[in-house]
Amino acid sequence: MQVALITFEQLIDQARMTHIKSAKSTLLNASGITIFYNDELAKLTDLDKQQLSFFKKEIEQEKDVITLQELGLYNYYLPLKKEAATAEALEKVRMKGASLLASLNGSKSSEVCITNLTGEKELSLALAEGMALANYQFLKYFKDKKKRQNSLTTIHIADKYVTAKDAESLQHVVEATLVARTLINEPVSFLSAVQFSKEMQKVGKESGFSVKVLGKKEIEAKKMGGLLAVNAGSIDPPTFTIMEYKPEKARNKKPIVLVGKGVVFDTGGLSLKPTPNSMDEMKCDMSGGAAVVGAMMAVAKNQLPVHVIGLVPATDNRPGMNAVCPQDVITISDGTTVEVLNTDAEGRLILADALVWAQQYKPEVCIDLATLTGAAVRAIGTYASAVMGTAERNVMDQLAESGMHVWERTVQFPLWKDYGDEMKSDIADLKNLGGAYAGQISAAKFLEHFTDYPWIHIDIAGPAYSNSASGYRTKGGSGVGVRMLYDFIHKNYC
Ligand code: BES
Ligand code: ZN
Ligand code: ZN
Repeated sequence: MQVALITFEQLIDQARMTHIKSAKSTLLNASGITIFYNDELAKLTDLDKQQLSFFKKEIEQEKDVITLQELGLYNYYLPLKKEAATAEALEKVRMKGASLLASLNGSKSSEVCITNLTGEKELSLALAEGMALANYQFLKYFKDKKKRQNSLTTIHIADKYVTAKDAESLQHVVEATLVARTLINEPVSFLSAVQFSKEMQKVGKESGFSVKVLGKKEIEAKKMGGLLAVNAGSIDPPTFTIMEYKPEKARNKKPIVLVGKGVVFDTGGLSLKPTPNSMDEMKCDMSGGAAVVGAMMAVAKNQLPVHVIGLVPATDNRPGMNAVCPQDVITISDGTTVEVLNTDAEGRLILADALVWAQQYKPEVCIDLATLTGAAVRAIGTYASAVMGTAERNVMDQLAESGMHVWERTVQFPLWKDYGDEMKSDIADLKNLGGAYAGQISAAKFLEHFTDYPWIHIDIAGPAYSNSASGYRTKGGSGVGVRMLYDFIHKNYC
């Protein structure tokens, strides 16, 4: 296999192009964005009479953004209706950040300064977040990347309620999301399972968590029959990556375990996907793994006092070599036998080994993320992830709450026994294929078999990847999961 040359510094640089900094006061030499409540015009003390009456008219016409051009600099004003900083209100501001970012890059601005007259620091942070996420670019494979680079490099936040630490934490969470995006956007010609595990090692080194990678021999020794079966049709070896962030003063006795599907490309195997449509975006099939690395990175960089472990089983799914055949029976590392009826239902096979591995930690909660089923996308589209689990009601609710807060929304489905009955095989303990309907639930029932701890499964097949940009969600990998997991861990375990 040809290995493309890119250093981690390059990888992370692409993700780090926007610096978010707190500033003591408004910067006069940078473009400005002023957030204010539309019934508090009196707070805009810099405006003269003429400008004020112009603003009044613009507000009457419900303009989203009011623009003033002075001394060659653009100054943007965001009139907001006074309302609580709900998830919806914050999302509106992130989206406004994304559209302002386009204007700033259009006018070749390199710096911008946010001033906030509302007293709600969440609004400044959401605006900066939307802008920084929208400023992401994946330029590695362009010859003229320099020319294509966005002009904006720095966002200053002049808000007396936003501390340097607030800005830095946000910067870390954004960076982590963008590292996840970059990993997803890398094609399998670069990001083999081995390369993916190397990238995780680099992120660990850079962010301060430990990373251990099991290679094929160790995976064989541990009898991870699911991971080995999916890898059987491939030239490239599988990997199983174990990341651990264990600060001295961790508040939790039992670790939070995160598991991510790391299928670096999913052809479907011998049950080949019917191209051209269904295979076209399958480099995204490691998005769960990318979300786990991203979440580990954000937690470690912000030094949260929480013990977190991340597990990523990785391989490509191909029809070559000794590829697993439909009707083959394989054995997962806990001894469970599985009749493989469709080799395209491969995610659950590699996740089974990872969920078994997680048992040794006796997790406080184990959360897995996976681009697992087309059924999840058919059920709820690309706007949300499908969530199922055995964790306590309040924990499920906390995760849903975090998802809503960062606008990585979730919809919960049941885990009734009936769906599990569909996974019974005539000749083995389980089969990997359920009935025609609600495939996201039968897949989750399959996974549940391998858990003996509080567990939540997030099927991110819908929102993980998009062929078109939408606001701050750029084309390609979205990095979904990173911000939700970070918020969940930060709010509930710190
Ligand atoms: N990686 C796919 C699921 C997927 C679909 C991810 C769309 C992202 C977007 C998964 O491995 C798969 O192929 N699932 C099959 C399972 C089926 C054969 C039971 C599916 O959903 O069609
Ligand atoms: Zn598949
Ligand atoms: Zn897959």
